[in-house]
Order: sequence, then structure tokens, then C-alpha cells
Amino acid sequence: MLDKLESSLIVPMEHNHPLPKPTDPAVQLSGNFAPVNECPVQNGLEVVGQIPSCLRGVYIRNGANPMFPPLAGHHLFDGDGMIHAVKIGSDNRVSYSCRYTRTNRLIQEAELGRPVFPKPIGELHGHSGLARLALFAARAEIGLVDATRGMGVANAGVVYFNGRLLAMSEDDLPYHVEINGQGDLKTIGRFGFDDQIDCPVIAHPKVNPTTAKVDLEDGTVSEFKYGPGRFGGEPYFVPEEEGEDEGYVMGFVRDEERDESELVVVEASEMKQVAAVRLPERVPYGFHGTFVSENQLKEQVI
Ligand SMILES: [Fe+2]
Repeated sequence: MLDKLESSLIVPMEHNHPLPKPTDPAVQLSGNFAPVNECPVQNGLEVVGQIPSCLRGVYIRNGANPMFPPLAGHHLFDGDGMIHAVKIGSDNRVSYSCRYTRTNRLIQEAELGRPVFPKPIGELHGHSGLARLALFAARAEIGLVDATRGMGVANAGVVYFNGRLLAMSEDDLPYHVEINGQGDLKTIGRFGFDDQIDCPVIAHPKVNPTTAKVDLEDGTVSEFKYGPGRFGGEPYFVPEEEGEDEGYVMGFVRDEERDESELVVVEASEMKQVAAVRLPERVPYGFHGTFVSENQLKEQVI
């Protein structure tokens, strides 16, 4: 009966007016914002140039990647969290994988085979938004969905804290994701900091404010251009040695004309590209990233 209510009342209500661009999935998920499938570990990637030895470890980037096509309104920020991981070993040996973070909402929707949790930005507007909330409350009441273990998407921030990789969005506790020896990712579950926290946590924590200095000493600013038709996301600075200003800036770059995705590594003081990893699959534009060194991985809590 609730499904009938959804299809005969709420969906027509949502389709009654044309969606504005900020909640229109045709706009929000167009081009390289479109979701991709999970990718198991792909080894032996082609590398142009030489990746510096201080970058042995795993570059991680979080992003939104809706598992199901939206029924109506959808904003980019509503998508399920997906982490892309590039593992860098010695002598330019690089692998890539991407995995959904298995949030409580994703697990339940995967079991049901359809989206049932409300999308806070894309759906919850006006009368149809209220109707969606009421429908969700009714489904929770009869036990079809369980919202008591969190409703977050874990798609925005990602940080390596005290031996744990944590994927976070502003609407829930972080999710602990394990990085295995092959560079694959496995969701362990919601992380409450050993039961010290039981409320949503910001998605942009500052772990170490002393190591992210990338502007130049003399106050000048230099830039690196990816080239025509090539677009990057938020770059991540990795110091050559802990606490140093010298280091490398890395991030995913999309070549829209060649239909290719790369991980580009730029030497920070000269702003000169030193390496590019050709990725085997398209990597959508996303949000925040981090780098976990080989040594940090050895101390990972499993
Ligand atoms: Fe953010």
C-alpha cells in the first residue's frame, strides 16, 4: 500500500513541476558527474614519468555516486559515498580500485533493490518533500527500513585518523573503511570513536594543521594548468618529509576530450608535473581526498 501511495501520489506530485537545475538529476549527474560501477583492484597501470618514492602509499578520494537512478529530485551531495583508491608501490607499480562505502542506508537499499531513504537536498522541498518524509516515517514504523543506525551517505570528507580511514558526511558518524594490502577497500562500519561520540560529525576535520602549507615562502603564487579540456578536483599536498614545505600535489584529472582519467602528480615548489597515472576507468568529479603513506598503513587498526 505504501508503494502504491508513492507511485500514484508522491511521484506524480514530484513530476508536476519541472525540476530546477540544483535538483535536476539530468543536470546534477551529467557528464563526468555521472556515477560509475565499483571497480575491483586493477594492477599494472601505465605511468608516464616517475612517481617520487615519498608517495608510496595510497591516494584516496571520496565522492558522491548514487547506486540507484534518482526517482525525482537529486542534488550531487545526495549521492552514496564511493571511495577511489590509487595504491602506489616502488618503481611506478600502481593499482586502482573504487568501492561504495557500505552505509546503513546503502545496505538496506541494496537489499530492497530501490531507493527508500530521503535525499535531503534533492527531494525534501514543498509538499512532495513532506510527503516523502511521511512515507519514510511510515516505512520505518512498519519495520521496512531502519533509520536508528544512521542515514548518512559518507560521501564528502575522508581522513586517516589514529590508524583508521574514516569516510564522512555532515549527517552521520564517520564510517571506518579498511584498506587492504592489495589496495582494495572494505567498510568496517560506523565509527563512534570507541563509543565517545553518538552524533553527526563534521566532514572536514583538521588532523594536523602544520603540514598543509603549499604557498610559497616569498608570498608569490604559482599555478599549474592541466591543459585545455582537462579538469582537476581538489588537489592534496604530500610533504617530502613530515613537516616540510617541499613536496607534491596530487589529484585526479579528467580529460574531457580524450575521455580519460588520470592521477596527476605535480612537484609543488616548481609546479611541474612529474608523473601521471592512466586510470583504467572513468573517475567522476568528487569531493575531498587524502594520502595514507606506506608507514601509516602498517599501523592500520583492523
Ligand atoms: Fe567539503
